[in-house]
Amino acid sequence: MANFTSFEPDDVPPEIDTSVAHSARVYDFILGGKDNFEADRRAAAGAMEANPHLATAMRENRALMRRMTAVLAKAGIRQFLDIGTGLPTSPNVHEIAQSIEPASRVVYVDNDPIVLAHARALLASSPEGACAYIDADARDPDKILAHPKLRDTLDLSEPVALMFFGILQFIPDDAGPHAIIGRLLAALPSGSYLAIQQPTADFYPPGVSAQAAYQRAGIPFQYRTREQFAAFLDGLELVDPGITVMADWRPDDETQPRPPATHAAAYAALARKP
Ligand SMILES: C[S@@+](CC[C@H](N)C(=O)[O-])C[C@H]1O[C@@H](n2cnc3c(N)ncnc32)[C@H](O)[C@@H]1O
Repeated sequence: MANFTSFEPDDVPPEIDTSVAHSARVYDFILGGKDNFEADRRAAAGAMEANPHLATAMRENRALMRRMTAVLAKAGIRQFLDIGTGLPTSPNVHEIAQSIEPASRVVYVDNDPIVLAHARALLASSPEGACAYIDADARDPDKILAHPKLRDTLDLSEPVALMFFGILQFIPDDAGPHAIIGRLLAALPSGSYLAIQQPTADFYPPGVSAQAAYQRAGIPFQYRTREQFAAFLDGLELVDPGITVMADWRPDDETQPRPPATHAAAYAALARKP
């Protein structure tokens, strides 16, 4: 098994089309980043006009990812498969996991060429661990599972945390998200985990027009209800506290005020494969 950080020549980014919005760059803009273009900023403006709380929700999503990664690493999980990684934003999954166990191994997957172009920052592994980046579409789980970088980095006979943060809304039902998650989980052994987050309009119905704003910009987008979210967890053992809104999933400090569900409207859950 490889124990290195790799950025292969075949990873040379294809031409980045700046004329159409991409979800990674819209997210980057809303979070105050600089890796975005006019089309992304227009899409972000439309979405934020519809839902002025989007930046709060995105910050909460990053905080959720940090907490869940730490919980998993402290529970002894040493392998992570992060689908829809986004532009590197420290701390990334490997930084959190390796700060708890330096030998942690992380595979990142994204299909945006600009994320690929920035992937070096995702590959700065500790010497004891390993990181790899796969340029692939989440809708093609077989390609991800067969990819040599995945096979070189993760040992699929040992538990893996499969992570979907801030991406399921970009995989509408007609793209088969349940089958995608099912296919990936089927390749992982018992004791693996699914860590997921999914935006919802359950708490802020006017925010549903943000969905239309993304769609107008050419980005597929789907909010889901609690019931639709729960369906992703079928057959798995929910870890405490079960399904919650993001901010209520094991907050760092119970005594500190948290954003209301209306401002950070997404469900979160961590579940174990029996
Ligand atoms: C909103 S960002 C979330 C980034 C990070 N996971 C987080 O929670 O902060 C969504 C990411 O999912 C990626 N993405 C969207 N659809 C995808 C697909 N079908 N396959 C792979 N990546 C996808 C985008 O390129 C983007 O980087």
